[in-house]
Amino acid sequence: KTGMFTYDPGFTSTASCESGLTYIDGDEGVLLHRGYPIGQLAEHSSFMEVSYLLLNGELPNQAELDKFNYTITRHTMLHEQLATFYRGFRRDAHPMAVMCGVVGALSAFYHDSTDITDPHQRMIASHRLIAKMPTIAAMAYKYSVGQPFLYPQNDLSYTGNFLRMTFGVPAEEYEVNPVVEKALDRIFILHADHEQNASTSTVRLAGSSGANPFACIAAGIACLWGPAHGGANEAALNMLHEIGRPERIPEYIARAKDKNDPFRLMGFGHRVYKNYDPRATVMQKTVREVFAALKVDNPVFEVALQLEEMALKDDYFVEKKLFPNVDFYSGVILSAIGFPTTMFTALFALARTVGWVAQWNEMISDPEQRIGRPRQLYTGPTQRDYLPVDKR
Ligand code: SDX
Repeated sequence: KTGMFTYDPGFTSTASCESGLTYIDGDEGVLLHRGYPIGQLAEHSSFMEVSYLLLNGELPNQAELDKFNYTITRHTMLHEQLATFYRGFRRDAHPMAVMCGVVGALSAFYHDSTDITDPHQRMIASHRLIAKMPTIAAMAYKYSVGQPFLYPQNDLSYTGNFLRMTFGVPAEEYEVNPVVEKALDRIFILHADHEQNASTSTVRLAGSSGANPFACIAAGIACLWGPAHGGANEAALNMLHEIGRPERIPEYIARAKDKNDPFRLMGFGHRVYKNYDPRATVMQKTVREVFAALKVDNPVFEVALQLEEMALKDDYFVEKKLFPNVDFYSGVILSAIGFPTTMFTALFALARTVGWVAQWNEMISDPEQRIGRPRQLYTGPTQRDYLPVDKR
């Protein structure tokens, strides 16, 4: 079951587990959460609705949604002692370093929800993680810019609360922009879960040993940070800024094709999608909506559009089946909203927490679940006898 790795020389090793949360058809560009297409959820749903769906298996009715919203909202505050925890970091620490540390420390503060054999404690821990990630991420940003932390406000939506804790200041009222709130909520939906990606597999493997949920999510955050995974959104925007203007795109496409050049087009390609990433399609549409509403005229978006157009006409990218993934356009929107590139992966972790906890719950509640124990193909020396140092 969970964590049983099989190695097939024709393919890379795959983590095999049974899961009913998310279905991906990489060739057809299909992504379903509990059977619902990502395009419909992004268009008509909210991140709280999708969170309820991933955790419970069904979309909530109004009463269930109101109760879930109430529960999550009332877990958004952090133990006050954790605020001092931030002071141990340098101000220029990467927000993902802070997120790894603070989330890993949560079990020291919320040990009344670490008994994984108790379904009630598991759900409390899950709600606490979903609820506190926006507070933790916002505090990481505030700490990095030397501004005071803002407490959550219960009359705001999940995403509106995060925007206010991030960009609000005590000196004045913060007005949540509904266009930005809707766009960011949709971006959270697009990042909520994605089958057995590297960070979700990390959470499952850590959880399979019986580690507490806070430690497992911290492990997932660490894995997501890598530029080949969740760190790609930060790398993709940095790449677009480095390209700077459309006439420089051919130079970078040539570099991406050059096997002697380690450069890769960040935000392109995917382990599973070999047609297109349905999330990238929604993301590009959202960029247009946000830019029109905020009257943003950012040349980086034009570079991104022309890069996508040129790459998709290039035989190399067509043959290698490389298309924009979820990370290609996300940075363009997040930057337009006001987030620094260093916060992009922290936002990915914020949104993916519901997927991680839903997958963790699914695994832990399986009575047949066993510890994951990947195997290997041994390629080292055959057995040999020890030689004393004067004989070597
Ligand atoms: C995420 O798994 C998930 O679901 C992840 C994710 C999620 O929601 O959790 O979807 C989020 O991580 C999206 C991916 C973000 N990463 C990037 O955008 C980084 C750039 N992309 C590449 O590093 C790469 O495409 C990967 C890591 C995404 C996929 O790696 P694969 O499937 O191992 O691809 P590959 O290395 O086997 O590529 C096949 C070929 C190779 O050439 P050959 O060895 O066959 O000659 O395509 C080339 C690669 O060199 N290639 C690229 C490329 N990606 C692959 N060449 C140029 N630019 C690229 N971006």
